[in-house]
Amino acid sequence: MTLPTPNSLDTPDVSDSQTAQPSDAPLSNHPSHPMAGSHIRSFIHRRSHITLGQQEALDKLLSKWALPYENRLIDPAAVFGREAPLVLEIGFGMGETTEKIAIARSEENFLGVEVFNAGVGAMLKRIETSSLPNVRIIQHDAVEVVRDMIAPNSLAGVHVYFPDPWQKKRHHKRRLIQPAFVALLASRIAPGGYLHCATDWEDYGVQMLEVLSGEPSLENTADGYAPRPEWRPQTKFETRGMRLGHGVWDLFFKRRAV
Ligand SMILES: C[S@@+](CC[C@H](N)C(=O)[O-])C[C@H]1O[C@@H](n2cnc3c(N)ncnc32)[C@H](O)[C@@H]1O
Repeated sequence: MTLPTPNSLDTPDVSDSQTAQPSDAPLSNHPSHPMAGSHIRSFIHRRSHITLGQQEALDKLLSKWALPYENRLIDPAAVFGREAPLVLEIGFGMGETTEKIAIARSEENFLGVEVFNAGVGAMLKRIETSSLPNVRIIQHDAVEVVRDMIAPNSLAGVHVYFPDPWQKKRHHKRRLIQPAFVALLASRIAPGGYLHCATDWEDYGVQMLEVLSGEPSLENTADGYAPRPEWRPQTKFETRGMRLGHGVWDLFFKRRAV
């Protein structure tokens, strides 16, 4: 099954897309954060295939394992029923990487944010079937989740694995890793916490390195790109990119002490 993302070679022209919904909708105003006002969405809504099992999981398990988007900070201890370091994953796709990491790092809590129905259904099935007590989901735009639901200095880590590359130059503005969003994200990471990104698109890797290096509150742990940590499994999109002959670029930055 393919994910409905612009990571495919036959990417539709968003501006021409019949199924794209208004993507630059204004956001509520929170003058204190860097993404007050409006932002350009890093995704488009498209009709996509969803299996019966994924739809059933959405119907039955969303209320059990997912939190609704709210313009209110979450209380992670209450959500997970325990105090533990909180790691945010943006765009978990079908969730296979999230599941592996959550099993391997059972002492940490994982909050996955994804907009894509089939992916959320698939992840809900994983949480239920593999009994993953340390994973919760929010199905919403991660920019708004980070802005409105995550407290400053609260995250132990952030994973952004193979975000949509938006290859065409005129679509680069839709890329998630942009200075304003990275500033917002960095403000939510606790001092000493990390931001780990990976991409299989070289020019997006260059952009990530520039943007992350330009954020004063972040510090590169490597000299340029980082080696892939042994705990990061190969993701579905990474496998696909490698099949197409792409390289892989990991970036591992830490939040400076304040
Ligand atoms: C190319 S896929 C990568 C999926 C997975 N991380 C992997 O490596 O296989 C990017 C995912 O990010 C999701 N996404 C894009 N923008 C998002 C946003 N603003 N908030 C939440 N999810 C987003 C898309 O729906 C898509 O599933």
